[in-house]
Amino acid sequence: MAKKIKRIGILTAGGDSPGLNAAIRGVGKTALGYYGMEIIGIRDGFRGLVENRRLKLDKSTLAGILTVGGTILGTSRDKPHRMVIDGRTRDMTSVIVDNYHKWGLDCLVCLGGGGTQKNALRLHQAGLNVITLPKTIDNDVAMTDATFGFATALDIATETIDRLHSTAHSHHRIIVAEIMGHRSGWLALGAGIAGGADVILIPEIPYDVVKIADAIRRRSRHGTNFSIVAVAEGAMSRDDSRALLAAEKKLERAKTLHDKKEAKVELATLEVRHAGNTMRLAKHLEELTQLESRVTILGYVQRGGTPSAADRVLATRLGSACADLIHEEHYGVMVAARGDDTEPVPLDKVAGKRKSVPPDHSWVKAARRVGTCLGD
Ligand code: F6P
Repeated sequence: MAKKIKRIGILTAGGDSPGLNAAIRGVGKTALGYYGMEIIGIRDGFRGLVENRRLKLDKSTLAGILTVGGTILGTSRDKPHRMVIDGRTRDMTSVIVDNYHKWGLDCLVCLGGGGTQKNALRLHQAGLNVITLPKTIDNDVAMTDATFGFATALDIATETIDRLHSTAHSHHRIIVAEIMGHRSGWLALGAGIAGGADVILIPEIPYDVVKIADAIRRRSRHGTNFSIVAVAEGAMSRDDSRALLAAEKKLERAKTLHDKKEAKVELATLEVRHAGNTMRLAKHLEELTQLESRVTILGYVQRGGTPSAADRVLATRLGSACADLIHEEHYGVMVAARGDDTEPVPLDKVAGKRKSVPPDHSWVKAARRVGTCLGD
């Protein structure tokens, strides 16, 4: 009897990131051309699987996308177990399971960051054959050396810091550059080191604004009247970090519905307050140093445009390794980057974990050694 041709569904979920198309192409070309499988693109993350929205991926749709930013499939932050349908939040897991079978899928490939790994694990536990690839500009997915998107965002953020240097120097100003990264500091730390920022602030090392001002004033005393502060969007002062930790603990310990609600409100209030943190920090530094301060929020520029060569290589090799695992029917794993190789890591070892910057990481040590202030 002829062997059944494997049919793969592939989706991209969470925030977009450079290298997604390169990864789709890596999985697709290996699956189609090398293994003779079929591949179906699912639109807009997990929602496409609920709403039966798909795109046939063949040789022509996979051509010319290696260098293209974003994702040809579209993406969303929808979660299978909490999806807003007609204005109501519903658990759509069983609909996804049904559609997976109706579409005749043998495997679902999910390209995404930390949230996607959790959602993929839920679907694997619901009985689907799932494989994931680690994507995010934040570089914070656990159990992998790297995530695609990070290298490109790092280049973009570094180039921005380079450009900010000349204008800060001309105007004798402090320029505070806010860099993405969610709750991790990899992007701000990497770009801060590569761009020679004078101060780097990351969530893993809560800061004291007086110490930052001291470092900037020291530079002024030595005749350098400008400074570049690279601040991760999740960076916090020691007080704010303590308050956040306390609220998170409160939520963890909450037993009654009332206590949970109260802790959630507290957390939400802190998050709203944090949104203006970079502006407040710049103002505070201006007051303490008497140097004019300006803010540049890099924002979505960091996620846009063509992927760097490093991301194209990473996405292609992870994608291609993913097709190998499908061929071997090795499911329930994330394809991790391990040195020059790849490694399948069980999803339950990845989901719900975050790769933070260890405070004694070699990047942190090097930054300190070259005289960068880390705000502590
Ligand atoms: O995870 C990638 C990321 O760009 C984070 O750095 C940032 O905090 C978040 O996504 C922004 O999310 P959204 O695209 O939903 O605004």
